[in-house]
Amino acid sequence: MSEQIGIVTWINGPVVRARGSRHVGMLELVEVGEERLVGEVIGLDGDIITAQVYEETSGMRTGAPIFGTGLPLSVELGPGLLKSIFDGVQRPLPLIQMESGSFIGRGMRLDPLYRKDRWRFTPKVKEGDTVIGGAILALSVLPVLRRPEVVKPILILLAASVVVIAGLGAAASLEPNLVPSVPEPGSPLAWSVLVVGLGFYALLGVRALRTYLLTHRVADLVVVVGLVWLASALVASLLLGYWNLGWWLGHGFEIAGIALVGIPVAADLLRTNPSRPLVGDLRGADLVASEEAFLGSQVRSLMVALANKDEYTEEHTRRVALRAVQVGEELGLTTARQRSLAVGGLLHDIGKLRCPDEILKKPGPLTDDEYAVVREHAEAGRKLLKELGGFGEPVLRLVQGHHERLDGSGYPYGLREAQLDLDTRILAVCDVYDALRSTRVYRDAWSHERAVALLRGAADTEFDSRCVEALERVLAREHSGDLAVAV
Ligand SMILES: [Fe+2]
Repeated sequence: MSEQIGIVTWINGPVVRARGSRHVGMLELVEVGEERLVGEVIGLDGDIITAQVYEETSGMRTGAPIFGTGLPLSVELGPGLLKSIFDGVQRPLPLIQMESGSFIGRGMRLDPLYRKDRWRFTPKVKEGDTVIGGAILALSVLPVLRRPEVVKPILILLAASVVVIAGLGAAASLEPNLVPSVPEPGSPLAWSVLVVGLGFYALLGVRALRTYLLTHRVADLVVVVGLVWLASALVASLLLGYWNLGWWLGHGFEIAGIALVGIPVAADLLRTNPSRPLVGDLRGADLVASEEAFLGSQVRSLMVALANKDEYTEEHTRRVALRAVQVGEELGLTTARQRSLAVGGLLHDIGKLRCPDEILKKPGPLTDDEYAVVREHAEAGRKLLKELGGFGEPVLRLVQGHHERLDGSGYPYGLREAQLDLDTRILAVCDVYDALRSTRVYRDAWSHERAVALLRGAADTEFDSRCVEALERVLAREHSGDLAVAV
């Protein structure tokens, strides 16, 4: 039965850290807090236990107890947000979902499921299948697979695939009959494998193309071309024999296609700077930094691309994210909403990737047409993040709505007070404050007093006065405590 294994020392949304006093295993089912919220151990480092909690953690405090059960989560899966759990590797999630729906409310318990089969996983695609490359790539578009806690199982799966393929290759050189032969060119089996494989590539190709249309990055276009080449290689290898020149050309396309898809990803990883530490408000800064780390290399690389386009943007977005989190905390928002504010703050101007440089960096006033192009960035940002996947509706709403104003004078939709949530109002105020305090190509930075005076003057017409006042309090505390934020 469950026994206390430690004390919670840190809570960030669903992720909880505890200092442990007795042995606990990776992926062990744990119960957190007096309410016994269900979670599992996703990290062990000395006596620090990191657990992912599958129930809403609002209201939980540090100092709460954490209990170990000695059971893997798969046998006693109880309440939790099943939609946010990836179970492709260890657990038969679809089966559980069939019984409980995609959302299980807090406090609801399920009977243990499939105790005997707890670690069995039957992949839909067999190792060695021609479509395996496409299948793994297709899985990568699932945002949930980009969460840090699933990286390790995926790496293990990849390493196992490499070992199996190498093992089969070695075995085949000794005893060719051990390895099943590839389908006869043009046979019904070859055609069905081809149809499945092309389906995967089509799915990826459409997504990659839409990403490119939104980012206009050459690297994203290269991925599209690489996917087309990989798809043509599949056609050649399944419909032609090795006596055809096309079969050999197809293999060349395959290698080139892998390079075209892999190189931009590697370049993204290399180009992505680790997030610059923010000092000052450590809690807010921690939250922003940890959310930034969750974004994944492609999104962070887009942030770097935007910073290269307009160097003002990079530090601006981090400052806005930090301010928005601080104001959110000041106004008593839940940690989950503060996390959305952090991500929304970091990515609010990502749609500017589509703005031509001559408009973004224009030193003088913009013409009406140019301003119309700039105004598109709010909606473009929402579309881009939706396309990339992994961002919840609150973040999308923040990105789309950060230029809306209470009196309907904002853009893109001229929304009014009743249609703007508090989070969007917070981001709007923090964005404007930081923009005014920054030196721009067309004007000098404003003083703190002048920027605050402008916000106060527009409080309750354009901006929410609660947000303006909360921002003032945050800034006043920072100045009085001499906690200048160095970013
Ligand atoms: Fe903006």
